[in-house]
Amino acid sequence: MPLVPPNIAALRPYEPGRSAEDVQREFGLSRVIKVASNENPLGPSPRALERMRRVEAKLNFYPDGGLELRRELARKYDAKPENVIAGSGSEGIMSNIIRTFLCDNDEVLTTESAFLGFQLLAKSRGVAYRTVPYRDWRYDLEALARAVTERTKIIYLANPNNPTGTIFTKHEFDRFYAHVPERVLIILDEAYFEYAKDNPSYPDSMHYRYDNVITLRTFSKVYGLAGARIGYGFAHEDLIANLLKVKLPFEPSALAEAAAIGALEDKEFLHRSLELNARGIRYLTESLRGIGYEVPTSDANFVMVSTPKAKTMAADLLRAGIIVRPLESFGLPDAIRISTGTDEENQAVVQAFFPVLGLTS
Ligand SMILES: Cc1ncc(COP(=O)(O)O)c(C=O)c1O
Repeated sequence: MPLVPPNIAALRPYEPGRSAEDVQREFGLSRVIKVASNENPLGPSPRALERMRRVEAKLNFYPDGGLELRRELARKYDAKPENVIAGSGSEGIMSNIIRTFLCDNDEVLTTESAFLGFQLLAKSRGVAYRTVPYRDWRYDLEALARAVTERTKIIYLANPNNPTGTIFTKHEFDRFYAHVPERVLIILDEAYFEYAKDNPSYPDSMHYRYDNVITLRTFSKVYGLAGARIGYGFAHEDLIANLLKVKLPFEPSALAEAAAIGALEDKEFLHRSLELNARGIRYLTESLRGIGYEVPTSDANFVMVSTPKAKTMAADLLRAGIIVRPLESFGLPDAIRISTGTDEENQAVVQAFFPVLGLTS
């Protein structure tokens, strides 16, 4: 169609994971476990729900553009509200970064098979999109630093990375940063920050405060608010001021903002979610490695399983009522991703592998 630019025509639309209800209907199953989208299996933070209920009666008013949440986050991280932006998920902010900072001749640089949401946003902008291969399923920061050209404007780094679950270390990031020119904007996507923060080699970007780094975080994962669409970013106030010009003025919604403020207060829920996830990661990693799969060490709330049978395996697991994420759309046809569930769900997931493989448990 002549109306559609070639870069848009070439995109494959984002396919969200299938819903449990949909799969239940299709295969006539009594129970379906969805471990496909890195969501929190404990549900939303109860404090978040409480806060949402409190704003219901005020939904006739427009929201404040995230100001109250920005103030809360600034207090929490010892920054100024001018250093913080809130948006419709971290992807909403990513979209604003693309719209704000990229010009037609700029180039975006990242790893191969980067987070699909970022791939789609960058490619829809029609700029050059370049990647370097993983090294042992981790970002190869040395190769990325070497790949910077005159045209490079944005480098996207997810730490922990989706879909591999791996991290790069503080030492690796420091060396990388020293080689990147200041005219390049580095997006540090820390959607899975809370799961990784206690790993001593994990770089907490909040301590960096570099002028050309923007940190993105989200309430979609450990706070259990993926459906509310709320995320935030930290950066130099000049970067934030320009992002605020481009962002939709009434994003995030009042409900999403209230939920996030409640979630920040919910220490008990955070703790419970992290404990459950740590058990899940250990169990899934050890069990799947025990069956013989390659599973990179994950600091997130999911594991990646690398296998040439990925496609049929995802289909077989689906028929058994387990929804996992095949990674072909990310650019990894030989891998699937499995999120942690409740303890009981994790056991059911591992058990489902045995008949699929023709093994007995
Ligand atoms: C690396 C990464 N960044 C960002 C997101 C999107 O998060 P949000 O729900 O805040 O848009 C995800 C979600 O899966 C992710 O894996």
